[in-house]
Amino acid sequence: MSRIAYVNGRYMRHDLAHVHVEDRGYQFSDGVYEVAAVFAGRVIDEEPHLDRLERSLRELKMDLPIPRGALKLVTREVLRRNRVRDGMVYLQVTRGAATRDHPFPEDAEGAVVLTARSVQWPETAEADRGAEVVSIPDGRWGRCDVKSVSLLPNVLAKQEAREQGAYEAWFVDPQGRVTEGSSTNAWIVDDAGRVVTRDLESNILGGITRQTVIRLAREAGIEVVERAFTLAEAQAAPEAFLTSTTSFVRAIVRIDGQPVGNGEPGPVTLRLRDLYLTHCRGGRRNR
Ligand code: PDD
Repeated sequence: MSRIAYVNGRYMRHDLAHVHVEDRGYQFSDGVYEVAAVFAGRVIDEEPHLDRLERSLRELKMDLPIPRGALKLVTREVLRRNRVRDGMVYLQVTRGAATRDHPFPEDAEGAVVLTARSVQWPETAEADRGAEVVSIPDGRWGRCDVKSVSLLPNVLAKQEAREQGAYEAWFVDPQGRVTEGSSTNAWIVDDAGRVVTRDLESNILGGITRQTVIRLAREAGIEVVERAFTLAEAQAAPEAFLTSTTSFVRAIVRIDGQPVGNGEPGPVTLRLRDLYLTHCRGGRRNR
């Protein structure tokens, strides 16, 4: 069975799917994207992902090129055609193809691409050995709240991490405070057992996993504080972890080679991971 992609109103063989050479996403990074996880055929937190997509588009002064309801139907159809039960959906919207010129073109139609693939998600907390992160200066633009396809600093940071044998890179601002990971949000647990993650006014992406984990933690009686923390504070914290659509809640056991806590995934992290996976398995609905 060959994979199928949705490209501008058509379902095409994935290996033949293409967009125009003058698509503005390709030439200018003039576009935005979403990644959502799929568990047992269900798109996790679909509404919040679509809310964020529409917000990102608004910041680019673009409208969603197809109605939201139609986009959901396309998502179902791409999942069905690719026989994805567990996996992920990638959705990208760009300003479309036009003769290369910086201002917005008068006549370009937004381009929509949607792909899906199966992934065998790790099923148990025991499967999570914990990850290492390395720190990197945050030299990104000032609008990281927009989920833009312009990901070069993130790609370079992730590559740097991998070359150092780490799973993720943490961006650090000039004051020594962690902003977020190259494709994840950053968290620590403080000495009082509160979970701490950077506030959304600090040029980070408002992660959907972050939003859900904040809610699940509060419902479980775990206090959440949204504030900046330094790299040194994270290295001295009892626990650290990261969140994202494709990493869920994942313990961090080393930061720049320094063990976090006793160097093993900690109890608060594992509890949140468990709560989040229960949420993904349909234990509760987001809306
Ligand atoms: N990345 N911060 C950045 C810079 C990200 O790119 C992502 C997501 C996150 C976490 O957001 P969420 O919880 O909504 O996945 C934080 C996706 C997964 C990616 O680029 O593949």
